[in-house]
Amino acid sequence: MMAAKPEAPAAVRNAAPILQVLEREFAAVRSVLEIGSGTGQHAVAFAAAMPALTWQTSDRVENHPGITAWLDDAKLSNALPPLELDVLTDDVDRQFDAVFSANTAHIMTVEAVEAMFSLVGRVLGAGGIFCLYGPFRQHGRFSTASNEQFHRSLVAAGKGMGIRDLEKLDGIAMDTGLERQRLYAMPANNLTVVWHKSGKDH
Ligand SMILES: C[S@@+](CC[C@H](N)C(=O)[O-])C[C@H]1O[C@@H](n2cnc3c(N)ncnc32)[C@H](O)[C@@H]1O
Repeated sequence: MMAAKPEAPAAVRNAAPILQVLEREFAAVRSVLEIGSGTGQHAVAFAAAMPALTWQTSDRVENHPGITAWLDDAKLSNALPPLELDVLTDDVDRQFDAVFSANTAHIMTVEAVEAMFSLVGRVLGAGGIFCLYGPFRQHGRFSTASNEQFHRSLVAAGKGMGIRDLEKLDGIAMDTGLERQRLYAMPANNLTVVWHKSGKDH
């Protein structure tokens, strides 16, 4: 029996504004790795809207039945079944033109965020693109009181979660050969951050 398709209302709300950014940033991209596909709703929406590229889903294995249910239903030839990928323990031995991830950096521990950037650095070749969507702090400041409140609730959960400083992410990115290119202000006080892989070895 097919698993029920999980629903994330936020992923439905933010899909259209994120797609606007990806259509621009991924115009010349043919292969994308998504880290933390979650429900799989973004994968289905973005692969359907960008048929020229192949969208490789991935996540920790507990999310695979839901992602697979969305993919099976959508029957898109350019949205691929999920890779088992916990950035702390698994690796990916393929190259991609781009990596996309949404609402993961504040859910992952700092150690996992560092592992994610390291993985992104390995799977992208020179000129590769990393788009990361979510809430961030800039220069140590929260964009709104509600984001600060959200951060406090994440920290209080005691699992190492928390809204990350964009400048700290830039430093982690730099260590793996990624330089920030653009920053998009998104609805609901979120950002999409775009880093490009340089040609230098790291
Ligand atoms: C808030 S959900 C976001 C899901 C989806 N990207 C979205 O925007 O709806 C956070 C995601 O991060 C994933 N995640 C958390 N820690 C991870 C890790 N160590 N490695 C890979 N994925 C991780 C979770 O499994 C989950 O899919």
